[in-house]
Amino acid sequence: MLWVKALHIVFMVTWFAGLFYLPRLFVYHAQSTDTVSIERFKVMERKLYYAIMAPGAVLTLASGLWLWLGWGFSGGWLHAKLALVATLIAYHFWCGKLLADFRNDRNTRSHAWFRWFNEFPVLILFSIVILVVVKPV
Ligand code: HEM
Repeated sequence: MLWVKALHIVFMVTWFAGLFYLPRLFVYHAQSTDTVSIERFKVMERKLYYAIMAPGAVLTLASGLWLWLGWGFSGGWLHAKLALVATLIAYHFWCGKLLADFRNDRNTRSHAWFRWFNEFPVLILFSIVILVVVKPV
């Protein structure tokens, strides 16, 4: 079980690397006006989303489900955590939609908007880590 939990944490960190960095790239992309920078951001965003974030998300969820169903964890903390994981998955797909907007040169949002958008996974990370470690409920 401890091996699965260790892998779960590694996969979660991989996923979060992208959840933190992709919206940061959107900030810089939204500020860019020259073609060279814009095309470079498109490549960076695509690779981060599909090569880092997507596998990180799938492996985090798979190892989390394995922990949950394999060892019978239960409690209010787990239900609260699953609700937060659901919002994180929605955020992940929203990032994918924003990535498609940038790829098609259709983004209309400002760099300031992306700075705020970038804060959401910070709140989720704090909340989930407190729930699983402290288990206040
Ligand atoms: C389908 C989604 C997920 C499920 C079912 C799940 C389930 C679990 C379970 C059952 C544990 C063991 C808890 C314990 O040892 O007391 C665990 C540990 C952990 N999970 Fe998840 N998890 C999921 C997603 C996530 C996500 C998205 C994060 C990151 C924000 C995360 C972060 C952690 C951490 C840091 C631990 C280690 C806690 C400790 O060792 O005390 N999990 N998870």
